[in-house]
Amino acid sequence: MRILSGIQPSGRLHLGNYFGMMKPALDLQTKGECFLFIANYHALTTVDQPDQLRAYTREVALDFLACGLDPERTVFFKQSDVPEVCELTWYLSCVTSMGLLERCHSYKDKVDKGITPSHGLFAYPVLMAADILAYQSELVPVGKDQKQHLEVARDIAIRFNNQYGPAFVVPEPFIQEATAVVPGIDGQKMSKSYGNTIEIFGDEKTVRKRIMSIVTDSTPLEAPKDPETNLVFALYRLFATDAEREEMAARFRAGGMGYGEAKKRLFDAYWAHFEPFRRRRAELASDPAEVERILKRGAERARAEAQRTLQRVRSLVGVD
Ligand code: ADP
Ligand code: TRP
Repeated sequence: MRILSGIQPSGRLHLGNYFGMMKPALDLQTKGECFLFIANYHALTTVDQPDQLRAYTREVALDFLACGLDPERTVFFKQSDVPEVCELTWYLSCVTSMGLLERCHSYKDKVDKGITPSHGLFAYPVLMAADILAYQSELVPVGKDQKQHLEVARDIAIRFNNQYGPAFVVPEPFIQEATAVVPGIDGQKMSKSYGNTIEIFGDEKTVRKRIMSIVTDSTPLEAPKDPETNLVFALYRLFATDAEREEMAARFRAGGMGYGEAKKRLFDAYWAHFEPFRRRRAELASDPAEVERILKRGAERARAEAQRTLQRVRSLVGVD
């Protein structure tokens, strides 16, 4: 089974990215042939400083490798090292209706937030479809906010296959209900653009402060509390074993469990979870040539696959 996912290097990665996409994708590494890439072409829709784009790209590479991406098993590469996706984007654009893209929430949300829309931002889902279809991907692990983009990719694949003949596998999203939407410290979806994130590799002091500032209600310490509507618990459960989760839930229900204590336990669980990854990340950061080598080797493998697809597509549309 071919599994593929990508992430934009548009900021420091956070717990939403980790539990929504990275962990599910990394857990699938042993279940099939996994392709993971850094979507630097996509990031150009929001990052316009070249040095910043380079820095974020390096950081994302380190983050994935530190969190357990196995480059012997998984094809790991930068999107821009396979320029064939741009060519494929054009063929796909020509079978994509304006209406399909106009309906995309992610585009509408960004425009509502005041971003002046470029053509690139509008066409973003077509490039994403090309990423997925170029490698004949069957399963695409993502968070819930990417569900509509997956539907667009499926629509485009079906439309192309009907019009020109079979060229693409029609991909399926892989969305884990429990981590489909990780909340941020203010209770909205955790997102780089809402300033409500807890970074995966933040420094100790900053993260502790972020966790201590998670929004809670003013129920007194002694009062019973519902764990299901409680933001600290929603984040704690991501790290906890079943027994730990049940224990904290029971203490909240019984009363006497304050938010301050729960936040301290959340910080400890967070810190312990990423401890081995932090060490590995520091090692990798001291060897940038090795990271570069891994990405280049991944790109060669990915490119060979994309070239096979493109050969067929060119012939189907009549530009061979
Ligand atoms: P952001 O909203 O911070 O810009 P991205 O759009 O770059 O994040 O998302 C990268 C990946 O992480 C996508 O697969 C997305 O669905 C997932 N993701 C991002 N935020 C969350 C979240 N809060 N909960 C679950 N998944 C998320
Ligand atoms: N749009 C995705 C995001 O913001 C990133 C992405 C680009 C992607 N191409 C992809 C995800 C292909 C999965 C498959 O998170």
